[in-house]
Amino acid sequence: MCSVKLHDKTFVPYIKNEELMKAIANVAEQISARHKDDPQPPVLLCVLNGALPFTAELLKLIDFPVELHTVRLASYSGTDSVGPVRMIGALSSELKGRNVIICEDIVDTGKTMVFLHELLLKEGAASVEICTMLLKPEVYKQPLALDYVGMEIENRFIVGFGLDYDQLGRNLNDIYILE
Ligand code: IMP
Ligand code: MG
Repeated sequence: MCSVKLHDKTFVPYIKNEELMKAIANVAEQISARHKDDPQPPVLLCVLNGALPFTAELLKLIDFPVELHTVRLASYSGTDSVGPVRMIGALSSELKGRNVIICEDIVDTGKTMVFLHELLLKEGAASVEICTMLLKPEVYKQPLALDYVGMEIENRFIVGFGLDYDQLGRNLNDIYILE
């Protein structure tokens, strides 16, 4: 694998696709163990755009009834988290009374997850769980529990498998790290 250039920055290989797939399979097993006998199918809520590839892989590995919904939020600009988190569009009213599993690409400061978790409960979701492909544990200092975590990574900026640097890099199959 070689480095990739996106805009003005160079990124080098960090996590191989096979490793991501193993982490996603592990998360899918945990979700299945907890939810396969739910009386009402749980809702996977994909946080666009970053969690799209992760959620797609997760869906393929879940073999009981689930619904798929999406939500669009924004707080990042370039390589920096610049609060506050904003909601783009509206949440589906069908989430009222449902068990919602938020599917996120990466949890960094956790601002995004705290915002969405609160919003979903306020909108009437019966329960809200958080499922993230990646976590930066050195940065995450929120009291909110993360229910499913694929892999923990160091506090560095990464791209690939849904994660972008100014909208580029989402299509990379592996994860790359800023050189
Ligand atoms: P948080 O609110 O600080 O936890 O930020 C979470 C959001 O920031 C994620 O949904 C990502 O879109 C984005 N993000 C955090 N870290 C990275 C990174 O290393 N690369 C690309 N995007 C990131
Ligand atoms: Mg995101």
